[in-house]
Amino acid sequence: MASMVDAVQVIKKKLEGKVMVVTGGAKGIGQTAARVFVEHGARAVVIADIQSIVVGKSVAESIGERCSYVQCDVSEEEQVKSMIEWTANTYGGLDVMFCNAGIMSYSAQTVMDLDFSQFDKVMRVNAHGTAVCVKQAARKMVELGTKGTIICTTSATASKGGQNMTDYAMSKHAVMGLVRSASIQLGAHGIRVNCVSPLVVLTPLAQRMGLATPDDFYTHFGNFTSLKGVYLTADQVAEAITFLASDDAAFITGHNLDLDGGLLCLPFVAPSTT
Ligand SMILES: NC(=O)c1ccc[n+]([C@@H]2O[C@H](COP(=O)([O-])OP(=O)(O)OC[C@H]3O[C@@H](n4cnc5c(N)ncnc54)[C@H](O)[C@@H]3O)[C@@H](O)[C@H]2O)c1
Repeated sequence: MASMVDAVQVIKKKLEGKVMVVTGGAKGIGQTAARVFVEHGARAVVIADIQSIVVGKSVAESIGERCSYVQCDVSEEEQVKSMIEWTANTYGGLDVMFCNAGIMSYSAQTVMDLDFSQFDKVMRVNAHGTAVCVKQAARKMVELGTKGTIICTTSATASKGGQNMTDYAMSKHAVMGLVRSASIQLGAHGIRVNCVSPLVVLTPLAQRMGLATPDDFYTHFGNFTSLKGVYLTADQVAEAITFLASDDAAFITGHNLDLDGGLLCLPFVAPSTT
């Protein structure tokens, strides 16, 4: 029986020895991803987040000794550059950059209501901040000759228009363009660039939209997914990212992995022709 358990553990560890950065890892999807990466054998996982050092360190400590915390605002290029420098110097490299930090619209923001000071804040973190992280990670990987991998968190709203939250949808479309362009430009260096597009995960961000429980999800989104009676968890997102970060995905780049319960496959229902 013990050998069966050992075998499962060996199969599960897909990130053995990797040095990884998770932005926005003090809460939500990023926090779960940091824990799952450690469980998959990552050598070091650095959480980079704007939360206080006290909060961030306590999250890192709860995950274990292979996890550490750096306070860092992804929209500030010098902070991101120093955080990546520190990671590479402290742990001897950088294999995986998970660009996950993001914020939600401050209000409904239909196109006719756009408040450009709020719009700029969302774009600053989601689009500009993600581009800063991709740029600085790529430069470090190229400098070190590492055939690393970069994964970004986009959203189901990166492939669809929205009835509101226009700024958020625009910011996530921008990340999709970044991933596609970076994957083409970095392929020659052996660096893979991919993204995941979750629909809704019940994190603090979703709670701010009034989505706190699975029932909230079914009420608001149940009619739009082909899969019924299931919802997306942060653990499932983390496992999808783990796959993209692992050597199992060695031939995958420029790919967007939709985690949306079939939202994008809903049929166009034509009127009857009889
Ligand atoms: N939760 C969802 O339903 C959902 C769906 C699709 C996509 N996403 C995307 O997933 C990512 C993570 O979302 P979440 O639900 O875990 O959010 P969350 O609010 O629960 O956590 C986000 C984390 O990012 C950090 N952060 C915010 N601004 C930052 C900055 N400038 N620099 C560094 N860190 C910063 C926050 O401090 C927080 O720890 C975001 O990019 C979000 O847009 C979330």
